[in-house]
Amino acid sequence: MSYNIKVTKIKESKVSKIDFDNITMGFNFSDHMFICDYENGAWQNPRIEPLSLIPTHPAAMALHYGQAIFEGMKATKGQDGTPLLFRPDENAKRLNFSADRMGMPQFPEDLFVEALKQFTAVEKDWIPTKEGSALYLRPFMYADEPFIGMRAATSFKFIIMGSPAGPFFSKKIKLYAEKKYVRAVNGGTGEAKAAGNYAAAIRPTELAKEKGYDQVLWLDSQDFEYIQEVGTMNIFFKIDGKFITPDLSGSILAGITRMSVITLLKDKGFEVTERPIKLSEIKEASLNGTLEEAFGAGTAVGIAMIEEIGNEDFTLKLPAENPVSNMINDTLNAIKVQKEQDKFGWIVEAK
Ligand code: COI
Repeated sequence: MSYNIKVTKIKESKVSKIDFDNITMGFNFSDHMFICDYENGAWQNPRIEPLSLIPTHPAAMALHYGQAIFEGMKATKGQDGTPLLFRPDENAKRLNFSADRMGMPQFPEDLFVEALKQFTAVEKDWIPTKEGSALYLRPFMYADEPFIGMRAATSFKFIIMGSPAGPFFSKKIKLYAEKKYVRAVNGGTGEAKAAGNYAAAIRPTELAKEKGYDQVLWLDSQDFEYIQEVGTMNIFFKIDGKFITPDLSGSILAGITRMSVITLLKDKGFEVTERPIKLSEIKEASLNGTLEEAFGAGTAVGIAMIEEIGNEDFTLKLPAENPVSNMINDTLNAIKVQKEQDKFGWIVEAK
């Protein structure tokens, strides 16, 4: 289906005010937003317009019951300057998976991709070209119907906005193995990219930071024994030459970077197994010297090397060298800027 997206451009761009050598993700926003309204059972009026405040009724249901979901993506530039997206069709599918779980309407996947392409083309001057930098894209949907009763809303907004971003972590990270709070339970919303999952993680993450860690390593909700994921990413371990990552057991986010890393590792000849992983297995591997590398994988962070995992009861130091993690990071970054051949067909030109 072809969509007519009305474009209204800003009078004067703010892009010249950005120091692209020094950008922390999430503080600066590009000039425009894509916005579309769900009313009377249909998505209507798709448009790109200058980024502005959105009038919101105090009874908007997202504010009360958390009917809100989001995606994270990154736009880069190819060697000839063409704006590029990475696997936008996967984000479209995941958004609709989240929407289904949260009782929200499906957003047409072809409109999702088309909107992203047009938005990214309009904002192309906001895409940083320094290695490891990108224009972070945040598609999201929320219930804006004013209603106090408890049921699925009938009106929603879908918006895409952009924030230029440098590397998320400038150093290796330390993970706090959380034994009190949980992120998700089977049958809960952990598999969805629901705003509430992140709300529930904020306080435990603050506490972990107070103890000197960077992010929380979430464990299973029943026994606090199985590794699930890290604050904003999935996790991989290399033990005795082979990679393992927790399987998508029903409470773990199906990361698009995660699935890409699995493909890349296999393509480079590594064995990768998705299966339940006990924290005790990682401690054991560390003790017997077979734990070789560990890294987090997510859109915002890319590949984040892990140097330590611990809590009040134990400290586990990872080896200093991360040859395969570095290689995967470099390969992923090179594919995203068309320095390396896109043999899996992941890149979509935004023009
Ligand atoms: C992403 O990696 O895109 C995320 O959604 C993480 C975000 C909470 C910083």
